[in-house]
Amino acid sequence: MERPEWEKHGGGMGEKVCLITGATSGIGRATAIGLAHMGARVVMVGRDQGKGEAALAEIKEKTTNPSVDLMLADLSSQEEIRRLAVEFNETHPRLDVLINDAGLFRSERITTADGLETTFAVNHLAYFLLTNLLLDVLKTSAPSRIVNVSSGDHTNGTIDFDDLQGEKGYKGPKAYSQSKLANVLFTYELARRLEGTGITANCLHPGGRVPVRTNFGSGVSGVFGVMVRSLRPLMISPEKGADTSISLASSPEVEGLSGRYFVKKAEARSSDVSYDERLARRLWEVSAQLTKLPA
Ligand SMILES: NC(=O)c1ccc[n+]([C@@H]2O[C@H](COP(=O)([O-])OP(=O)(O)OC[C@H]3O[C@@H](n4cnc5c(N)ncnc54)[C@H](OP(=O)(O)O)[C@@H]3O)[C@@H](O)[C@H]2O)c1
Repeated sequence: MERPEWEKHGGGMGEKVCLITGATSGIGRATAIGLAHMGARVVMVGRDQGKGEAALAEIKEKTTNPSVDLMLADLSSQEEIRRLAVEFNETHPRLDVLINDAGLFRSERITTADGLETTFAVNHLAYFLLTNLLLDVLKTSAPSRIVNVSSGDHTNGTIDFDDLQGEKGYKGPKAYSQSKLANVLFTYELARRLEGTGITANCLHPGGRVPVRTNFGSGVSGVFGVMVRSLRPLMISPEKGADTSISLASSPEVEGLSGRYFVKKAEARSSDVSYDERLARRLWEVSAQLTKLPA
């Protein structure tokens, strides 16, 4: 059996500070465990105090790494993302790796406290806003890395600027694949904007041809929910699903590589539309507007 990514690299993360969203479950949790095993100072982001503290205690015990912390934020709320960034900046002088992993699927259209559609807000705008708010500390910590967890499902996505938030007609699969395409477009545009700063930005599909056995889609009704539940026995473990995130966060082999998409730890081609630079710039501008950041 192939060894997990973290075991191959041993304690290679030294004192590196890694902030991981979605660290309370699934791929993000397995990524936090892997990087903690490698000696990193891991800051987990969770939204639920009880679940977060349980995951924190388990990770510390499993990895015997005492340098694992928890920060709480509901990433559907821009106010909470801003508070998280302020708290992180006040308590951490450096950030070597930011992993944007938190994501969800919604079969119904639900709006956030900011009045935005939840899939778009959590899966894309939260990556966009948190990353932008942490760019200064990433710059002073360079060489540093940004890792965005997308999905192979981005290939089914289009960016529908006429109905970005499903107000005219909401469909869960369409909203999800749009948000995952947005992850790829955001990563490529970010990499272009960060050229020469020593910060790299890459994205990935976790796992391979079969999905990863996580909480993803567990409470979802309809065809998508049935499909996710019926595929569960065939799915790969979260540990395996976290290999590419861990590799992009830690491997010397990807040092300096930026603006790339990875599957199973290898560079891969993303969908044709994801390479459209005008589309990526337009998405950046709209995202900046929606998060009240300068474009
Ligand atoms: N599973 C797969 O096969 C697969 C395939 C392709 C891509 N992905 C991507 O992988 C990433 C991780 O998904 P997963 O499969 O590990 O699913 P998961 O087990 O459901 O984990 C999702 C994580 O996101 C967090 N999250 C969701 N909404 C949040 C919010 N509003 N604020 C803060 N945190 C929030 C969850 O927090 P709680 O623990 O509090 O719920 C959880 O930690 C997602 O971006 C997903 O799109 C997964």
